[in-house]
Amino acid sequence: RLIDGGAKPLAGRRAVVTSGPTHEPIDPVRYIANRSSGRQGHAIAAALTRLGADVTLVSGPVTLPDPPGVNVVRVERAEEMLQAVLSALPADIAVMVAAVADWRAAAPNAEKIKKQPGEGPPPLMLTENPDILKTVGHHADRPKIVVGFAAETQDVEKNGRVKLKKKGADLIVANDVSPETGIMGGTRNSVKLITEAGITAWPDLSKDEVAGRLAGWIAERLT
Ligand code: CTP
Ligand code: CA
Repeated sequence: RLIDGGAKPLAGRRAVVTSGPTHEPIDPVRYIANRSSGRQGHAIAAALTRLGADVTLVSGPVTLPDPPGVNVVRVERAEEMLQAVLSALPADIAVMVAAVADWRAAAPNAEKIKKQPGEGPPPLMLTENPDILKTVGHHADRPKIVVGFAAETQDVEKNGRVKLKKKGADLIVANDVSPETGIMGGTRNSVKLITEAGITAWPDLSKDEVAGRLAGWIAERLT
């Protein structure tokens, strides 16, 4: 045990965490984004740091302060987030918490798109963004522990199990983010841990508590 009272089971380990939304430009003043406060991802970066890990937090636009002791890389778009995550490899741990926009504008406009009286709204062509978790889960330099999240509004367990496989993750932290749960934008979270071995439901906890327990789960599997 160290002087600050904490055991450091992740000392010498490298981790990369994504957090927040991505913003995909339509033109210089408009963008496509997901809802995400970044609270859960930032809390996980902080919790891994407290256990001694050397953490790179790749964050989309959020209003949160940088967690102390964490190397924060700020990005806007999914493609930038992917590049920043790949630059952080090799790592022992990857926890992909960001709410990445699934699509971006196929051809963002260099100038602000103006309303054209009488012409109606402009068409918006979309193209698919890279899947950062899936890329990391199947990477030649794959971290030993790869964790993804699954924010669902229905069939949480089934969708979580499908994502575990498809993404090449060791763990999917799944939660029901239906508006009535208050999880989106809130400080609490109610999650299910989905692994090959089965499903474990955690009680309703603060996002900081989920982060602390998750960091502990990771440390147990690495040591
Ligand atoms: N994710 C990612 N890159 C993407 C999309 C998702 O890294 N382009 C990650 C998220 O950070 C999360 C996990 O994949 O850890 C699941 O994200 P989710 O949006 O639930 O899954 P999708 O595969 O995008 O499926 P869908 O949105 O259709 O449910
Ligand atoms: Ca998605």
